[in-house]
Amino acid sequence: RKVSKAMREQLLDKIPKDLIDLLKAIEKIAKKRKEKVYMVGGIVRDIILGIPNKDIDIVVEGEGIAFAWDLKNELNGEKIVVHEKFKTAVVIVDKDLKIDVATSRVEYYEYPTSLPSVDYGSIREDMYRRDFTINSLALEVDYQKFGELVDFFNGYRDIQNREIRILHNFSFVEDPTRIIRAFRFASRYDFKIEEETERFLKDAVENGFLKKISWPRVKNEFKIILGDKNPEKALNFLEKYDVLKNIHHNIKLTEKMKKHLEELNSLGEMFSQLKLKKWIMAFLILMEDLKSDEIELIFNKFSFSQDFRKKYEFGIKKRSEALSKLKKADKNSEIYDTLNEISFEVLMLIYLEGKKSSREKIRKFIFDLSKIKPLVTGADLISVGYKPSPEFRKILEDALYRQLDYKGITKEQLMSNINKF
Ligand code: CTP
Repeated sequence: RKVSKAMREQLLDKIPKDLIDLLKAIEKIAKKRKEKVYMVGGIVRDIILGIPNKDIDIVVEGEGIAFAWDLKNELNGEKIVVHEKFKTAVVIVDKDLKIDVATSRVEYYEYPTSLPSVDYGSIREDMYRRDFTINSLALEVDYQKFGELVDFFNGYRDIQNREIRILHNFSFVEDPTRIIRAFRFASRYDFKIEEETERFLKDAVENGFLKKISWPRVKNEFKIILGDKNPEKALNFLEKYDVLKNIHHNIKLTEKMKKHLEELNSLGEMFSQLKLKKWIMAFLILMEDLKSDEIELIFNKFSFSQDFRKKYEFGIKKRSEALSKLKKADKNSEIYDTLNEISFEVLMLIYLEGKKSSREKIRKFIFDLSKIKPLVTGADLISVGYKPSPEFRKILEDALYRQLDYKGITKEQLMSNINKF
């Protein structure tokens, strides 16, 4: 672990000013509490790569939870969430900044009031438990060594060489989610998986370790992969190494799916006002060619909430019906009626599958029809003597549909129609 002065300066130069300020606040508390603290994991990797990352993880050699309370007070944070069992806490400073604080075991103190005499006691162990060398780096947040890199396993070298390497041979066996993570990092950063690591990865897949995977964690990794800029890259890897097959034996990446995945970024831009969730769209694309019962099985495995299932599982199963209805829809009200209850992410899947005229109708619905304010409201109906009833909704819908179909129609005209009703 050699850190030259030049390298320390170089690293500090890459850290944005607001993060430096934050680290100084952390350092102040470390000094007061006489504890050692490090910034660790993904953010250190991303600083070296010059990539912005807002997930701040720190490890305290000492009392992480008490440290987190002090940090919250120092930063005037909004909230703190404590997990006693894991000795971790999250300090939520504001809506844009949260800091994960973990505890690593303190080795021993030479003098009760001094810093630990073992320079790198438990932090080494903490780093050794991690997935890849590129994620095993720590940054000193200590007043004397502020900004020094703690690199036990050549993580810095591997980042420079753009290689994903495990720390020990049992890494994938211990935690098979790492198989997915390896591809996630390889594709996101355009890194290669180091040869021996690849061999261990293949062995773990061949020996069925993916069967032991924890689904909530896979779900989490999938959400990140599918939300990344180019999910098709990681998915190609996942297919090539038989990971997709383990999710469901019928999921196969077709050329059509790849094309759809590639189109997601431009869809996100075109429909930016919809604030589309990219990972959900990509997830639905993966299920494009599956049958209803297969889709159901996958939604079950991932244990999505009822609400989520109602929006997306139901939507994706019904989408071909919606598309054929859309093809026949001529009037505005028919387009509206076909698309109104479909969630936007499913609507995008229909958009991808649709031809030019269906696409135009979807655009018309999103940019125009869905924004039209009904001229006739419930209050108007009540004012002419209607009582709320199931019929009520129907009358309002009819009025809206007429409004959509007859440009320039006035509220009075619509109301006179209703009165006749
Ligand atoms: N980690 C691990 N094994 C896992 C998951 C996580 O060793 N199965 C470790 C890694 O060292 C990682 C850290 O926990 O750096 C934090 O995990 P996570 O937030 O998932 O990863 P990041 O590296 O921060 O990646 P990202 O930038 O995508 O959040």
